[in-house]
Amino acid sequence: MIRNVRSAPSERRPSRQKIRRLVEFPGIKRLAPQQYRNRIRHLYDGPAGAMLVMASVMSLHEPLLGRMFRRRKFDVSSCRSILDVGSGAGQILGHLLKRAHADTRLVAFDLSHHMLRRARSRLHSDRPGFVAGDLTQLPFADSSFDCITCGWVIEHLPDPRPGLRELARVLQPGGRLILLATEDTLPGLVVSHTWKCRTYNRCELRAACEEAGLPWRSQFWFTPFHRFFKMGGILVEAVKPLHA
Ligand SMILES: C[S@@+](CC[C@H](N)C(=O)[O-])C[C@H]1O[C@@H](n2cnc3c(N)ncnc32)[C@H](O)[C@@H]1O
Repeated sequence: MIRNVRSAPSERRPSRQKIRRLVEFPGIKRLAPQQYRNRIRHLYDGPAGAMLVMASVMSLHEPLLGRMFRRRKFDVSSCRSILDVGSGAGQILGHLLKRAHADTRLVAFDLSHHMLRRARSRLHSDRPGFVAGDLTQLPFADSSFDCITCGWVIEHLPDPRPGLRELARVLQPGGRLILLATEDTLPGLVVSHTWKCRTYNRCELRAACEEAGLPWRSQFWFTPFHRFFKMGGILVEAVKPLHA
């Protein structure tokens, strides 16, 4: 289950970071943080957010996520309290509802009220708590959760460090973060323009996670096909050390 984290070839090519900066969505760097956040909230509140579910199914993103949870690559069965950050339309939350213990506390968190409403009505469940807010200012006490899932959200932060620090703060020592992010690959650049976000170089994201106190324990790919072609984005499990 636990694999050694080896450097992917993309981690060893800092020149890719320069190319990426030239071709990914430029607005994320040009707008002031609050302006950019408002733009993103507006994007997800509107028709693009409504289309997100269909896009997740058609891109196989949601079923592939299900496979990861089913095969226990993302094992949440022993977690007591899980925070799903950037829940969107509940693409991860739906799997958490199926895989987590019936007594596990589930909290769905998102910048967009509309997305939370969509998640609630799509999942037909009042079991999770639904909380709106910004990832860089989580309204939870320190060490509130023993697991956090954060899928395809961190790319909406111009600088990942404030968000990662918040994730580390609300995670209990020994707690796990399941982090999914858009990579600086060709498909990633398409995602960057479609969803007005940035992409990450693996090396850069790993260093930012380590700096925030969330060292990576494992890296995953959806399927051997994704692993071979380095597709599907960055899928990692990070663990907050027991002793800082
Ligand atoms: C691409 S969706 C991801 C949905 C789902 N987690 C998944 O895996 O498919 C990104 C979500 O992150 C939310 N989001 C973007 N920036 C955020 C921020 N700063 N704080 C909290 N949520 C944010 C958006 O509103 C949107 O619902």
